[in-house]
Amino acid sequence: MVRTRADLRAAVAAERKKGNQIGFVPTMGALHDGHISLVNKAGEKCETVVASIFVNPTQFAPGEDLERYPRDEEGDVARLSEAGCSIVYCPSVDEMYPEGSLTNVRVEEMSDLLDGIYRPHFFYGVATVVARLFIHVQPDVAVFGEKDFQQLQIIRRMVRDLGFSIEIVGGATWRDRDGLAQSSRNAYLSEEERSRANAIFGALHRAACRIRIGVPVETAVREARGHILAAGFSRLDYVSAVDPASLQDLADGPLAAGQACRLLAAAWMGSTRLIDNLGV
Ligand code: PAF
Repeated sequence: MVRTRADLRAAVAAERKKGNQIGFVPTMGALHDGHISLVNKAGEKCETVVASIFVNPTQFAPGEDLERYPRDEEGDVARLSEAGCSIVYCPSVDEMYPEGSLTNVRVEEMSDLLDGIYRPHFFYGVATVVARLFIHVQPDVAVFGEKDFQQLQIIRRMVRDLGFSIEIVGGATWRDRDGLAQSSRNAYLSEEERSRANAIFGALHRAACRIRIGVPVETAVREARGHILAAGFSRLDYVSAVDPASLQDLADGPLAAGQACRLLAAAWMGSTRLIDNLGV
């Protein structure tokens, strides 16, 4: 495990000297099987896998769960090494944001939709830290989970706009047997909340099936909102059917032949905010 940019650079240089390509999986720790599947995916593409563990303060607003975000660095490092990571980068806040840092990355428009409406700071913090991590690690490939679909698309756009020579790969959402998407924040759910939390996936799955058989997009989305609230979610931030590339809402009506559609949702189970998404 390395903590400084200098040690990281030396470790990556040693791997490159062997002729290895570098695959990168950024994480905030509290790892679950979904993270390990991203490490495996990076390992399929590159000889050397680097993972980072950094709970990024700039993507949390005051009052969010930065302080209580689950942390288990020792366990995570062991899990990553077992999964085949050659280098685990655990930088400090000072290493990522040197004293007096003034530079941020903003992917306009795409960061202000969907989750960006409810967490206006969030994607600016994500883009900033991911750009900094890319500069530190200098990977050939970086893997991000499709569970955070908006994040994945924003990072693709940032890479395109800033000309990073990095291939961005999406890893399939890892789900529990009942369909609930794995997330570090699932640890906040009580047993009773957990038993109802998969309704967000059920509602999206049903809406995707309905859209596939020609039901107008807005009707299917309205039904999904009803199902999520009926399952006992205390608040619904959004259910939307969007164009996957631009993240813009689709026009109402049945989906045209060959038209791409992604359903995204965010809802609160008690005090835990869950997000999920599904391709149609
Ligand atoms: O998805 C996450 O865990 C985080 O948003 C990321 C990409 C590691 C940036 O802090």
